[in-house]
This record gives sequence, C-alpha cells and structure tokens, in this order.
Amino acid sequence: MVEEAPEGAALTVDHFALLFFCFVGAFVVFSMLLLLLRRRLWCSCHVCKAYLSSSWAGEFDNPCDWFTHLLQESPTGTIHIHVLGNTITANPANVEYMLNTRFDNFPKGKPFSAVLGDLLGQGIFNVDGDMWRFQRKMASLALGSVYVRSYAFRTVSGEISRFLLPLLSSTADLGDGGVVDLQDMFRRFSFDTICRISFGLDRACLELPVPMSEFAAAFDTASRLSALRGAATMPLIWKLKRLLGLGLEKELKRAIGTINMLAEEVIRQRRKLGFETSYDLLSRFMGSVEGDDQYLRDIVISFLLAGRDAVASGLTGFFLLLSQHPNVAIAMRREIATMKRNRDGEGFASYDQLKQMHYVQAAVYESLRLLPPVQFDSKFCVEDDVLPDGTFVGKNTRVTYHPYAMGRMASIWGPDCGEFKPERWLRDGAFLPAESPYKYPVFQGGQRVCLGKELAMMEMKAVIVSIVSRFDVEVLQGGRPLKFVPGLSATISGGLAARVSRRGSIKKA
Ligand code: HEM
Repeated sequence: MVEEAPEGAALTVDHFALLFFCFVGAFVVFSMLLLLLRRRLWCSCHVCKAYLSSSWAGEFDNPCDWFTHLLQESPTGTIHIHVLGNTITANPANVEYMLNTRFDNFPKGKPFSAVLGDLLGQGIFNVDGDMWRFQRKMASLALGSVYVRSYAFRTVSGEISRFLLPLLSSTADLGDGGVVDLQDMFRRFSFDTICRISFGLDRACLELPVPMSEFAAAFDTASRLSALRGAATMPLIWKLKRLLGLGLEKELKRAIGTINMLAEEVIRQRRKLGFETSYDLLSRFMGSVEGDDQYLRDIVISFLLAGRDAVASGLTGFFLLLSQHPNVAIAMRREIATMKRNRDGEGFASYDQLKQMHYVQAAVYESLRLLPPVQFDSKFCVEDDVLPDGTFVGKNTRVTYHPYAMGRMASIWGPDCGEFKPERWLRDGAFLPAESPYKYPVFQGGQRVCLGKELAMMEMKAVIVSIVSRFDVEVLQGGRPLKFVPGLSATISGGLAARVSRRGSIKKA
C-alpha cells in the first residue's frame, strides 16, 4: 500500500522548487547585469560594433587578419575589445611583462580553465600553481633527456619512411592527378609520432572501438567548439547550454566522450605493457600518479593535442609558403646537398646534420613567423596592473598576446614584414634567433615556454628535408584566400590540396 504524503509536505516541496527556480532566475539576471556592466556589452565603438555584427568579414578573411590590422594601426600595438573584455597586444615589451616579469599576475586563470576544462581537464595547458609546476617538471625531465631525444629522432625517421614517403611516392606515381591533402597527411603523421614518443605506443597496438579517423574528427570538433566558447561575448549562454545539454554543447560532450575512449585505451595499453622500465612521458607520470586515471587522461589529451595539431599546422603552413617561393626550395636543396654523405641506409639526414642546416632552420622559423600554429594565447590578470606601454588592465581582464599579428608588425620586423625571407634569420650564413624571444612568441616564452620546442623543430626539419629533397610539392590554392577554422591551433578550412611529383631521380637527403 502506498501512503499518501500529507498536504503540508507536498506544499513544502512545491514551495522549495519555486524558491529554487526564483533563486536560479535571479542569479542568471544578476550575472547578466554584472556582465553587461563589466564587459560593456552595449558598447557602440566601431570595433565592438564590427565584432558583434561580423561586419569585419567584409574586409578581412579571418578574425586574426582583422585584429592584425587593428594592432598595426594602434600607436601602442595594443587594443581592447570591450565586448570581449579582452586586451590584445602585439607589443614585445608587454609580452615580456606578462609572460615573465609579472608572470604570477598573469596566470591562465579560472575563466580559461572553465572554457577548456571539459576537454583538457587538469592537463598542463589548463592549470596554474602547484599542479602546473608538477606536470612541467615531469614533462621537462622526460622531454629533456638525451635518451628521449634520440628515441624521438628514431621515431620520427621511422614514421617518415614507414608512412610519409610511401604515401607521397604513391601519390606522385599517379602522375598529374597525384593530389594529397597536406594538412590531413601531416596530422596523421604527427598523431602517430606523438603516440610513440609520448606514450611509447604504436597505433596498431591500440584496440579501438571506432576507426582512428573518428578520433581525429572528434579532436577537431572539440578544439573548434572549445575555441568558440573562448570567443563568446556572453559565456553564460554556453554555460547554460552545457548545463541543459543543448546545441553545440551537446556536440562537444559527444566529441569529448569519443576522445576519452582513446585516452582510456592508451592508458590501458601502457599499463598492460608495463611502465616501470619505459622512458616515455606517460610512463613517467604513471610512476608518480598511478591509479588516478582521470588525471592520466588529462595528461594524455594535452600531449596528443600539443604534439598533433601544432606540428601538423606548422608543416602545412611551411609547404604553403614554400610552394609560393620556389627560390627558397632551391636554396634548401643546395644546403642539403652540401651535407656529407654519412647517412644511414635509407638516406636520411642524421640528427647532427639537421642541426647544421642553418638555412632550413631559418626557413622554418620564417614560416612559423608568418603562419604560427598558435595564433594567439590568453591569460587573466589577477590584480589591477599597468602594461609597459601604459595600458591599464583591471583585475580579471583577459590579456592576449598575438603571435600571428606580431609576425606582421613593421615595428618588429621592418617594412618587409609581410615577405617570406628566411635570410632575415641568418648572419654570415649562420642561424641567429631573434634578439628577444618576446618579439617572436611562437613557442610562447618566459616561464611557460613550450616544452616541445626542440622536439617540434627536429620533427619539422626532418620531415621537410626528406620531402624537399625527393619531391616537388605544388599547393593548389588557386588564388583562394586562406581561411582558418576556429580552433586551438591554426587549421586551414577545407585542408590544403597539393600536387606531388618526384624530382627527376630520387636524391638522397
Ligand atoms: C610547431 C610546434 C609547436 C608550437 C608552435 C608550440 C607552441 C606552444 C605554445 C604557444 C605554448 C603555450 C600555450 C599555452 O600556454 O596555452 C606551448 C606550450 C606547450 N607545448 Fe608546445 N608547441 C609546439 C609543439 C609541441 C610539441 C611537439 C610538444 C610536446 C610533445 C609541446 C609541448 C608543450 C607543452 C607541454 C606546453 C605547456 C608548457 C607549460 O604550460 O608550462 N609543444 N607550445
């Protein structure tokens, strides 16, 4: 027999529900008002109006091109987008101040963690303080070790000969119709490479419920939708949609679910193969945080994203620029040809030879200057501060440095800043880095400088030298403007199709 609830009790439940909804409603209205006041969402300055109405798109292909224009026009190299509450700077003195001098006042901050929290969790890209210090120490021990460096080089060379060169050869053998999507090819290559380097695993040993292409698509979706969260003028809207499981937030949740399956399988396999005597990054972390699978999942995702997207984006941008500058390819081939022929059986340049290729290094730096994989990066100001150029930044303001715009500033690189000229990095034939790392924050700089910089440079140079010495790669952009998809690293909308042909006879590199 079911006992009926007394009338008074039902009333209490109803009252409680009503009170709850009133409270939530009042909270939402109050938060909106606060946001309106703080962000000046009604702002009618021409920049904010252009942002809100997307009218900038009439003149520029991408938001980063529009921001570059605004930053070039600004006397200080700094602008503020009121509706986003975002101070954007391309001024090297400001960049040094936020990344180094006043590092503690410009952490990633809670708003950033909220935007990327579902995807990156507590991974190194998304945390500050002790949790960041711990992961940075572990990762720099792993990535800095001589053993890991030489293992990484062998892995990269192996992936080049196993995957990249056969794919390009079979494409070239198709004759005139031999076309490949460079972006897709480099993503597949760098994904496999980072799986081996960071987790000591071969793609073939992973027992996955869906094809790898689905994981790749899930990464792209999650990166795109997380970036859209970061560009929202009213974060409350995506937060509400997330709470209710609606629209793009539902899509993001699904994509993250797929990514989680991959991360879980990576952890399972690493555990199965044993991690006590393995030197890969994941094994090192497992030695310290074994049992905390959620934390290990966050670490796996961060390194997959770092290793796949940024390197693939850098390589794609490089071949786009190279295709437009055949003189640079000729100069690179000349340098490659001067290297002594003490190569291994497969004709790859050795680690030391790659280091000696100053022109190639200069060409890579130059392409990353014009097409940086991470186009901009934000921090949040903890306490009121004043940047070196005199810009006031209030507590909780988002402050963004913009490598894409910085690569196009005449004040930093001179009037020929828009040209692709590897020579600007050379003095008497030797590669010379920028006099201040804050003029070129492509790998960030200061206390959170990219930990994979050496690895990324080695990987990119090894790939480039192998391809350039064997093939001609002609990008089929057909004069179409370069459009980027929103994402955590630069992704070309529609990929980058290229025709591949063998260079006369195969030359050894
Ligand atoms: C061309 C390739 C690459 C570029 C342009 C690049 C650029 C960057 C940038 C701009 C950051 C700062 C991001 C932020 O704080 O939000 C960063 C951080 C980082 N990168 Fe890279 N990266 C590249 C490749 C790699 C690779 C291959 C790895 C390693 C597997 C790696 C590992 C990391 C790590 C661990 C951090 C976090 C550092 C910290 O927060 O202390 N990166 N990278």
